[in-house]
Amino acid sequence: MTKPFLKWAGGKFRLVNMIRSALPEGQRLIEPFVGSGAVFLNMDYSSYMLADSNKHLIDLFNLLKNEGIEFIDYCQSFFDEIANSELVFYQRRELFNTTQDVRLKSALFVYLNRHCFNGLCRYNSKGYFNVPFGRYKLPMFPRQEMMSFYQKSHNAIFQVSDFVKTMKMAQKGDVIYCDPPYVPLSATSSFTNYTHDGFGFQEQNKLAEMAVELSSQGIPVIISNHHTPFTLNAYQKAKIESFDVQRFISSKVDSRGKVSELLAVFS
Ligand SMILES: C[S@@+](CC[C@H](N)C(=O)[O-])C[C@H]1O[C@@H](n2cnc3c(N)ncnc32)[C@H](O)[C@@H]1O
Repeated sequence: MTKPFLKWAGGKFRLVNMIRSALPEGQRLIEPFVGSGAVFLNMDYSSYMLADSNKHLIDLFNLLKNEGIEFIDYCQSFFDEIANSELVFYQRRELFNTTQDVRLKSALFVYLNRHCFNGLCRYNSKGYFNVPFGRYKLPMFPRQEMMSFYQKSHNAIFQVSDFVKTMKMAQKGDVIYCDPPYVPLSATSSFTNYTHDGFGFQEQNKLAEMAVELSSQGIPVIISNHHTPFTLNAYQKAKIESFDVQRFISSKVDSRGKVSELLAVFS
């Protein structure tokens, strides 16, 4: 199995086998919420359309695809002997938030991902990355993981796009795997975060509607999410596979328990 080079909240690396067996065959895999690319890296389609609304993420993927080892070396240069200090972290975070140089910004994105608290990716209302220093003993540079991503990226296109636009581009022969931000486990939990991200119940329902529509045109859609009364209702027309998973990325230690997840297969 190929590991992604970024830590990513909601990353699906540990669920890859289960997702792989739920995905039907097809020519091209479309991922409207690609995140770290854990699913893409472990599938065998002949081509991929990979999208996310996070521009920093997609710029980074495009630089890696286009420049390969040269860009990997450049990213590694930020994992120097001064990298793991609080002072340097905040200087580099400031540089990330102010520079207009996309190549520098992308390399700093990798640096921040490995040195910030829990590998989180959060922005304030002005769009500034604001995750604090992570205090890790020895953050490792993910060289091998970046190489694997680079090698696989030749058959992929990466685009900054909202899921609605990406899904409208699907054609017969495509398979769509959707991993949206999770619906909250209860109506109150992380409700604020969801409205901040701009991905609330309305967007979740829109995604489910589009899945019904596309599957009726012969384009299968598979959606990952929490197993809750809300998702069971939204995915009524799908075949549901449920399972328990252990959570690792979480900002609250006490919420790292087991939660129920599902895969909704619209075909
Ligand atoms: C749960 S993560 C995907 C994780 C990914 N499957 C992985 O294994 O790393 C959800 C992703 O959706 C993206 N996202 C949030 N709102 C979006 C939108 N409206 N359109 C497209 N992507 C969006 C986030 O930037 C995030 O990367």
